[in-house]
Amino acid sequence: MTDRDNVLWLQCWRDQRIDFNQLTVNPLLTRFWPNLQLAPGSRVFVPLCGVSLDLIWFAEQGYDVIGVELSPIAIASFFTALQCQPIPQQVGQFSVWEHGRLKILCGDFFALSPTDLGTIDLVYDRAALTALPEEIRPQYVAHLTAILDTRTQILLLTIEDAEVTDTAEQVYGIADEIKALYAETYSIELLHVESLFENNPEQPESLPERAEYKVYLLNHLEQILEY
Ligand SMILES: C[S@@+](CC[C@H](N)C(=O)[O-])C[C@H]1O[C@@H](n2cnc3c(N)ncnc32)[C@H](O)[C@@H]1O
Repeated sequence: MTDRDNVLWLQCWRDQRIDFNQLTVNPLLTRFWPNLQLAPGSRVFVPLCGVSLDLIWFAEQGYDVIGVELSPIAIASFFTALQCQPIPQQVGQFSVWEHGRLKILCGDFFALSPTDLGTIDLVYDRAALTALPEEIRPQYVAHLTAILDTRTQILLLTIEDAEVTDTAEQVYGIADEIKALYAETYSIELLHVESLFENNPEQPESLPERAEYKVYLLNHLEQILEY
């Protein structure tokens, strides 16, 4: 991530240009969560967490949640909506906001170390990888992989726009980009794919566009080889 990207995200929060924020808990999360059988008390890491209601859902299910988010405006508004205002504590490069099972580290994902995170059972990636410019994504995956234990699973939600030249296998299968980013280190299981037609808010006159909503589960290859 470049400093310029960080400045742009911080400005988005100042201007409240946050269309990416979902007004409900993600329905694919609640639908596919039982497949994971994660014991209550497990630790879930949410990179680039914003003010996602999914964080609260995790805490309500009895998981310890650790998010990382650049914008203090986002984090303050998240806790205000919960009617609590934790006092941030500076720990290394991050200011840490904590309330109950929710902990958000305010700072740059790319500055995180394994010690900042501790042991993580599952990463929940919704609009984190895909929020980044394509050229930064390999760096994101390399950093994520470096700060995680090989035991950690990754639940990855994507919204993919097919190219006209794509085959049915490419449209409904594991995306080439996801394979290129993760296949060297993780097994990739596609749990679900569905096509939705949506209007492009930037071109309200145009016909709805199709996108594939996919749910992937990634397991580190070293763990699979151990069994
Ligand atoms: C597209 S939003 C997604 C938020 C959340 N995952 C969701 O589902 O609503 C991306 C978020 O990542 C934050 N962000 C971008 N780059 C970051 C970085 N390098 N470190 C930490 N947070 C970052 C932005 O401020 C923004 O809130």
